[in-house]
Amino acid sequence: SVRDRLDRPLVLVGMMGAGKSTVGRKLAAALEMDFTDADDEIVEAAGMSIAEVFDRFGEEHFRDGERRVIARLMENAGSGQVIATGGGAFLQDETRALILDMAIAIWLDAAIDTLVERVSRNDRRPLLRTGDIPAKVTAMKEERSPIYSKAPIHIQSDTGPHNVAVTRIIEALD
Ligand code: S3P
Repeated sequence: SVRDRLDRPLVLVGMMGAGKSTVGRKLAAALEMDFTDADDEIVEAAGMSIAEVFDRFGEEHFRDGERRVIARLMENAGSGQVIATGGGAFLQDETRALILDMAIAIWLDAAIDTLVERVSRNDRRPLLRTGDIPAKVTAMKEERSPIYSKAPIHIQSDTGPHNVAVTRIIEALD
């Protein structure tokens, strides 16, 4: 099976609202692997929400903590792990190098309309709290896509229910 042939953890990267956590959880269930959300690990380690970390300590401090949390996850994760990362993690040179070195990175992508619709459902994301969300998401996607494209696997998550993305990922790994 796909699961038996994997020798590294699977790490989902991509924009806010691409479905990394939802698809990651379903992918892990389908492959009988464990799921970890790196953002949740940061929240636990910091003892506060991501928005609070941004507000009290700034983005740079957040990125630092994020890199350390992902480094720990990479060191401890066997091949039986699916890990979802926050949308900015893979953009950080050191964090990306770690992921590319130790895991199979999967870029989960979606059209701008889908991303906007999904992120507009809640306002927990500090980078989207102010300003025009569609304009911001458009600019971010354009700026970030060339970097996300360094992931060896690229999957479109918005062409059907999340299960379709899960099936596509499993096919791409096969
Ligand atoms: C961020 C994405 C968020 C979170 C933080 C910054 C980003 O994670 O890590 O708000 O820079 O794209 P999600 O992609 O899970 O929303």
